[in-house]
Amino acid sequence: MRKIPSAEITPENRYLNRKEFLKALGIAGASAAVLAACQNKPFLAGEELAPSSPVSPDQLLDGAGTDELGDTLTSFENVTTYNNFYEFTTDKEGVVKLAKDFQTSPWEVRIGGLVENPGTLSIDEVRDRYPVEERIYRMRCVEGWSMVIPWQGFQLSALLEDVQPTAEAKYVRFESIYDPQALPGQKNIYFPWPYVEGLRLDEAYHDLTMLATGLYGQDLLPQNGSPIRLVVPWKYGFKSIKSIVKIDLVEEMPVSLWMESAPNEYGFYANVNPNVDHPRWSQATERRIGEFSRRPTLMFNGYEEQVSSLYDGMDLRKNF
Ligand code: MTE
Repeated sequence: MRKIPSAEITPENRYLNRKEFLKALGIAGASAAVLAACQNKPFLAGEELAPSSPVSPDQLLDGAGTDELGDTLTSFENVTTYNNFYEFTTDKEGVVKLAKDFQTSPWEVRIGGLVENPGTLSIDEVRDRYPVEERIYRMRCVEGWSMVIPWQGFQLSALLEDVQPTAEAKYVRFESIYDPQALPGQKNIYFPWPYVEGLRLDEAYHDLTMLATGLYGQDLLPQNGSPIRLVVPWKYGFKSIKSIVKIDLVEEMPVSLWMESAPNEYGFYANVNPNVDHPRWSQATERRIGEFSRRPTLMFNGYEEQVSSLYDGMDLRKNF
């Protein structure tokens, strides 16, 4: 498999458009300011973050920043100790202990399927090739809890532009690592491992869709999907697949682990929608981790303005 030629970096004009888009959304400015505050550095508009920011959790101002709606960041402690990562265990507070020694280096991501430039990138090559930006996103789990997380990562669109999907490509399929020796939860035969997720191509190209390699100014910890995971903030958290080893462009809609496990409960789209309940519970409200009372869930998790046009004319009850 040949490498993606390194000459194909994101053209500057596209990069600037992206910045303008995010500025309009209030994401780039607010989030970069938070990180600058964390580093005790003045915030320079448009400043690009260094690939690995040398900030330790102790130096971070937990909860000091907000998202563009003014919602406070979830603490580093909560983000890194309350996790869903079924490859380790279904016990949210048990993940961190089991994931402690999980080896995420060396790590390679294979990108292929219906693309002009298939390739394999080591995680170091990914870091070299795609400068990271900071994005503060809300994450709403389908179970009814949510967090506000400052991620470091890059837009999935940058990688897609490099590999160049062919005309037949309609969806992107993501696969997590499969290693039952290292991942005790994969001995649970109830689930059809490996964890698989998918996006429609236009969702994958959307400016909000990112591949994250860090949070709170440091590299991802194993429990959060080290060394690279997807983040799609307007969809339920289960779409944001962790510890990715394979990305394929495909023609058919991928069948995710959740669609296969419980097709009547989990659909392909999984857009956050307070008006469409889970068959076993309401989705109208959520509990923000760190808070006591519940709050209303927002359509598309508060990103309606940015993403609703992706679903024009679609019945969101059928396409749940
Ligand atoms: N990815 C993999 N590979 N395995 C998982 O079990 N859980 C998902 C998602 N990605 C999961 C996964 C769910 S249900 C949620 S809510 C988020 O990861 C949780 O991410 P966090 O633990 O970093 O908050």
